[in-house]
Amino acid sequence: MAILVTGGAGFIGSNFVIDWLNHHDEDIINLDKLTYAGNLNNLNSLENNKNHIFIEGDIGNSDTIKECLSEHKPRAILNFAAESHVDRSIHGPESFMQTNIIGTSCLLDCTKNYWQSLPKKEQTDFRFLHVSTDEVYGSLSADAPAFLETNRYEPNNPYSASKASSDHLVRAYNHTYGLPVLTTNCSNNYGPYQFPEKLIPLTIHNALAHKALSIYGDGLQIRDWLYVSDHCSAIRAVLERGIIGEVYNIGGLNEKTNIEIAYILCDILEELRPLSSGSKIKSYRDLISFVKDRPGHDRRYAINASKIETELNWRPKETFDSGIRKTVKWYLNNAEWVDQVISGEYRQWITRQYS
Ligand code: NAD
Ligand code: TYD
Repeated sequence: MAILVTGGAGFIGSNFVIDWLNHHDEDIINLDKLTYAGNLNNLNSLENNKNHIFIEGDIGNSDTIKECLSEHKPRAILNFAAESHVDRSIHGPESFMQTNIIGTSCLLDCTKNYWQSLPKKEQTDFRFLHVSTDEVYGSLSADAPAFLETNRYEPNNPYSASKASSDHLVRAYNHTYGLPVLTTNCSNNYGPYQFPEKLIPLTIHNALAHKALSIYGDGLQIRDWLYVSDHCSAIRAVLERGIIGEVYNIGGLNEKTNIEIAYILCDILEELRPLSSGSKIKSYRDLISFVKDRPGHDRRYAINASKIETELNWRPKETFDSGIRKTVKWYLNNAEWVDQVISGEYRQWITRQYS
């Protein structure tokens, strides 16, 4: 038996692959295109693990997908593969449309043909789990209730619009062909192996280098943060116990403004990596700098996770306090990983974004 994960060399995908192998003996096939965001160093700890089989490939290439399915015969497919960074989608939406919409459509179609060819019992047990985002629901006002699975789709940027399209395709493959699908919409993740262009790892990295900590606009935008291993356990719960065709929101009830996040990170660093007496700055907070806002910046995201909590008995293990400390410690202890990422394509991106 095997499961197939796409995008398993990225931030959440690699955490999921490691987490899966800590809980199962089953093979995990990891198909990833290795874009700028895919990093096989994330999977170094699995070097001698025979249950992990890596395939370099694109979810938009039907020959690759067909070959992979007929060779490995997975009992489930979990689709993490995506272009995932909102700011990049604003600068260049094409790759987002290609992977998130066309790629997902190709993966779904190959999956449908494969699934239809399976014996009855295997067809019944098969699952296609699509990993999506809360950003498809758009932006909340300060006093609006948190997103429910029944909220209207109102995506506001090219990334969230492309993810919304993929969610609709997944829904359509269930409705039209009966493909046994599950969809999860999760809030912002943080934790180990997150690419250092996202708010939390970027802030840690820049603070350690005594560089400006850029906060978009007034810094009062709100995100609902979830530690990545809690996202992984939620996905395992949905795969094992989710009802076919259903959507599950995943979140940790940790609404924080971006400026609060910057303050929290500065304060933890103050404690774990105190500034030397000769330092030019008195506090990491001195590095905070408000910059031009992101165009169309969503003001607030918040998840109501009561469906997955009551129906699937899932709860996050980490509080924001425990998760963020683990995260800062991980980045302090894995400077080499960060350096390797930063020496690559990332540099050109930073120049374009913050020039
Ligand atoms: P990521 O950008 O870190 O990783 C994406 C991975 O997909 C990379 O390894 C990349 O090489 C691979 N990939 C990209 N295009 C591909 C293609 N055409 N074929 C095969 N592989 C391809 O993203 P992430 O943060 O790990 O997010 C994973 C999934 O979770 C995405 O679908 C994203 O929309 C969703 N999500 C992310 C968050 C978050 O906070 N990061 C929150 C909710 C949902
Ligand atoms: P990000 O990590 O890019 O995730 P997302 O856009 O998917 O929410 O950004 C998180 C929040 O932090 C978002 O409101 C934008 C903001 N932000 C900054 O203020 N400065 C930055 O340098 C970055 C990367 C993000």
